[in-house]
Amino acid sequence: MVERDDPELPAGMFERIDEGDDAAFYAEPRFVTHIDAATIDALTAFYRERIPAGERVLDLMSSWVSHLPEDVTYASVVGHGMNAPELAANPRLDAWHVQNLNADTALPWPDGSFDAALIAVSVQYLTRPIEIFAELARLLVPGGQLIISTSHRCFPTKAVWAFRELPPAERVRLIGFYLQRAGGFEALEFQDRSPTGADPLWIVSARRAVESAGDDL
Ligand SMILES: C[S@@+](CC[C@H](N)C(=O)[O-])C[C@H]1O[C@@H](n2cnc3c(N)ncnc32)[C@H](O)[C@@H]1O
Repeated sequence: MVERDDPELPAGMFERIDEGDDAAFYAEPRFVTHIDAATIDALTAFYRERIPAGERVLDLMSSWVSHLPEDVTYASVVGHGMNAPELAANPRLDAWHVQNLNADTALPWPDGSFDAALIAVSVQYLTRPIEIFAELARLLVPGGQLIISTSHRCFPTKAVWAFRELPPAERVRLIGFYLQRAGGFEALEFQDRSPTGADPLWIVSARRAVESAGDDL
């Protein structure tokens, strides 16, 4: 039985075809890309626009690539993922950490450790996304941004039901719901940056609320 992440969401939304151990599924490195080259370029361009040089960046659910612009210097880029050889091969990462977020939702960094947090084409694998997003609110400085990019490809057996079965607009709405329920975010934004003739790129972003006085999402 899948744990219910939020009482307003049916538990079935987070069911997966393969409920086996994620660590086993990700044990072997995959040195592949999960979206087309033009879609990666569009994501890199978005990061260039949105993440100023000198920021502290967390790339959650990362691999051997982070899609950050090569010529921009950040204060630090910390990676997280499921496969150590992939993360060790990622040239953008100053440090990295392996953790199964579906087994343990508590992230290891202190409050306010990051100015920007990224989840690239991976949100569909989270079975407890609201707990993870609440952790990201804790980790971001006020005004810091969370950028969640999505496309239409996935490992179908490991994606939760909602991301296998709902149409794209509903999936985007669901990410907005995750942010709202997690709390601590404001300035929710959606951008369709899909290049012509390549995998789509749908980006949801939000900022860590500056005030916790109640005008967040
Ligand atoms: C499609 S890959 C995307 C990797 C990378 N962000 C990219 O853009 O190429 C999905 C990633 O989600 C992460 N992931 C999947 N299941 C996870 C889990 N249970 N806990 C933590 N991370 C997970 C893994 O790091 C995996 O590499």
